[in-house]
Amino acid sequence: MLSDSTKIFLAQTTLLPDKYHQQADIFSQDGDMEHFSVIQSIIRAGLSGDAEAFDKQVARLRTRLEKAGAAKEAATIERLLKSATETKEIKPSRVEISRAHISGEVLTPDTNAPIDRETGAALCELYFPAGKQTVPVYEDRVSETITGLLEEWASADALRNVGVEPTRSLLIFGPPGSGKTLTAHYIAEKLELPLVTAKIDGLISSFLGTTARNIANLFDFANRYSCLLLLDEFDALAKVRDDPQEVGEIKRVVNSLLQNLDKRRPFGVTIAITNHDKLLDPAVWRRFETHVHIGEPGTQARTKMIERFLAPLKPEAPIFSIIAYCLEGHSGADLERICVSLKRSLALSGESHDGPGLFHALSSVLSRLPSQNHRPAQILAEDPDAFISLIANDLEFPLKQAEIGQATGYGQSRVSDIKKAKRHLPLMKATHA
Ligand SMILES: Nc1ncnc2c1ncn2[C@@H]1O[C@H](COP(=O)(O)OP(=O)(O)OP(=O)(O)O)[C@@H](O)[C@H]1O
Ligand SMILES: [Mg+2]
Repeated sequence: MLSDSTKIFLAQTTLLPDKYHQQADIFSQDGDMEHFSVIQSIIRAGLSGDAEAFDKQVARLRTRLEKAGAAKEAATIERLLKSATETKEIKPSRVEISRAHISGEVLTPDTNAPIDRETGAALCELYFPAGKQTVPVYEDRVSETITGLLEEWASADALRNVGVEPTRSLLIFGPPGSGKTLTAHYIAEKLELPLVTAKIDGLISSFLGTTARNIANLFDFANRYSCLLLLDEFDALAKVRDDPQEVGEIKRVVNSLLQNLDKRRPFGVTIAITNHDKLLDPAVWRRFETHVHIGEPGTQARTKMIERFLAPLKPEAPIFSIIAYCLEGHSGADLERICVSLKRSLALSGESHDGPGLFHALSSVLSRLPSQNHRPAQILAEDPDAFISLIANDLEFPLKQAEIGQATGYGQSRVSDIKKAKRHLPLMKATHA
């Protein structure tokens, strides 16, 4: 039998963390002295904070209880062990990084950014996330990569327990206006880290050797503070070394960049961004653990962005499908610009804020924009009837004739006539040529 004082010690000791208290209740129900040596080991492990030894000893006690025929008590211990593992595996809903995981001094708005010694130009800009960052809209694949990266930071301790670190370097590439810079800002906000954004024009110097020195100074600064280093328009620095036009200096610059990227690994997070991935030196890619291509948004992402950019207007769903179809091939930045123009046009023309009003405003906005490279938008800009014919004849377009008629104000029978006349075909040929 356990002595009363041992039971009380096990059940009530305040030296043990909560998890150990739960186990202590079980031991106090166990009246068998033969398990006392295991209980002692558990107490020792608990007091020394050795979680691994603690788990091992508790598992040992469970086996012993099983062997001794105390099946109910063994099952209780099993349950407690299981629920403790499950609790460990539940991910926090918010990324709570951080300064604990990223070494370095705290960066404040008063910190002086490093400068080019010759010109006095700043080598970087400091940005402190204020919790107002727009959440980017992504295709599923991109979304998985970014969420995965944030989850790694949310589970940094779990990763470290198995000897790995969360991803610290990310290379984002893709066409202009796809949300690359927005993504870097969003990650900084989620990780609660200030952004140190390299100023490429400040870094590049006409003095021989100065660019390499500026890069080194920038990295020294970023490594000193707890921050996210953002190398936007990275291709300007990381151009292929064997470009015959710029031998010598550019080689030195890229080498310095590679060395500094290698040195940065144990410090904070680094994100590089480029529109010109083909221009990057092959050795640069290896320096980044994760690469993500943010391309043009697909139909779903386009629709979501259009809904967001048209707010506070809230027209019915079908017109969103029509606008999203029309703006295929446009980047997020294009969509934002067009939606802003649409709202301006509606406000000034006094047209209704419903589907027909928006459809009309869209065709006039598009006709005023410089020549559209994207077929549906170009067709609507030139001839709204031809656009109606295009969507009505497209088997993949989700709306029925009646819905198209209602959303655009054309009415079902007019849509049906235009569809039969196949008004879009001459324009299709013209835009194809
Ligand atoms: N995926 C997106 N989700 C939400 N908004 C977007 C997205 N892409 C672009 N935008 C809008 O367009 C603006 C410009 O995007 P951003 O500056 O991030 O593009 P970028 O890819 O960095 O372009 P560039 O290559 O020209 O620098 C954003 O501030 C945002 O309003
Ligand atoms: Mg950008």
